[in-house]
Amino acid sequence: MDKEISDKILKAVTVQDIEQIRVEILGKKGFITEKMKGLGALSPEERKLEGQKLNLLKTEIEEAISSKKQELELKAINEKLESEKVDITLPIRQRNVGRIHPVSQTMEEMISILGSFGFALAEGPDIEDDFHNFQALNIPESHPARQMQATFFIEGEEGVVLRTHTSPVQVRTMEKGELPIKIIAPGRVYRCDWDMTHTPLFHQIEGLVIDKKTNMGDLKGCLIEFVKKFFEMDEVPVRFRPSFFPFTEPSAEMDIGCSRENGEFKIEANKGWMEVLGCGMVHPNVLKNSGIDPEEYQGFAFGFGIDRFAMLKYGIPDLRDFFEGDIRWIKHYGFLPLDVPNVATGLSLNGGVK
Ligand code: DAH
Repeated sequence: MDKEISDKILKAVTVQDIEQIRVEILGKKGFITEKMKGLGALSPEERKLEGQKLNLLKTEIEEAISSKKQELELKAINEKLESEKVDITLPIRQRNVGRIHPVSQTMEEMISILGSFGFALAEGPDIEDDFHNFQALNIPESHPARQMQATFFIEGEEGVVLRTHTSPVQVRTMEKGELPIKIIAPGRVYRCDWDMTHTPLFHQIEGLVIDKKTNMGDLKGCLIEFVKKFFEMDEVPVRFRPSFFPFTEPSAEMDIGCSRENGEFKIEANKGWMEVLGCGMVHPNVLKNSGIDPEEYQGFAFGFGIDRFAMLKYGIPDLRDFFEGDIRWIKHYGFLPLDVPNVATGLSLNGGVK
């Protein structure tokens, strides 16, 4: 290759330069093609000799161009990477994209703790039938327990209700017949109620464990461990009170010690109590109604009031404010969208934006 050509290739600065050189030398009107054309005028011996030389030269030039091209392409990529470099160690810019509601936050926290205990997620519909919401749960028609829950009925629909609790998901899960069972079912529930600790729409998490040997001790252990993790405290003041639910026997309610002073609401022993959940051993009739043999299987169940847990953890005195949609309230009590709770790095450590 003569020096002029190799210099030209060497001096190319961009991928475009080298492409231009390629066309100039090897293209249809390029210098090599022109020379090839000239071969016709030569004698056969000369043509063979010159032809070989030209081919050699052509290959040499092609290789030089292609290696220069690769070099320039690499250079271009590196320059681009350099100019588009992002410092991922910089703190993120806070953008005002709204807040996570304390109920959603609390629900996520509860699910992540119960998930770490080995509970799987289950679901059921908000619009329920009478069988799953009541009958299968050992609450027959005309049973006084129906009055315990002020039910919303669907107008014109016989036997269809807005579920008054998440307990029907227990029945739906047991009906599938896959044993043993260890599930939680979070969701919305509806009752005709309205005061500081009651709203017509609220949230529960149902828990259900069915196995051959499960007892009240397992239930209490599970719930006490849960509240310690949830409130991130070594000890939480709790008490179990005997209670009544048609779908459990025996039944209990768990209260958490709390105080409500000077508009402040917090966990505290020896002041007052707030009921946060109902629980008990699943009634044999409920097992039977759901197709499980109570002679062989038994289990426990619980129903958390998510909103109540949120009130206690985040010091929110009035439940009704949860659903007012007041932007100042959500700014105060809400959570940043990126603070996803998880058991490993902490549940609410970065939350509670003030
Ligand atoms: N479903 C009950 C309620 O909404 C709460 C409850 C109590 C759920 C006891 C349970 C349970 O699973 O065992 O008032």
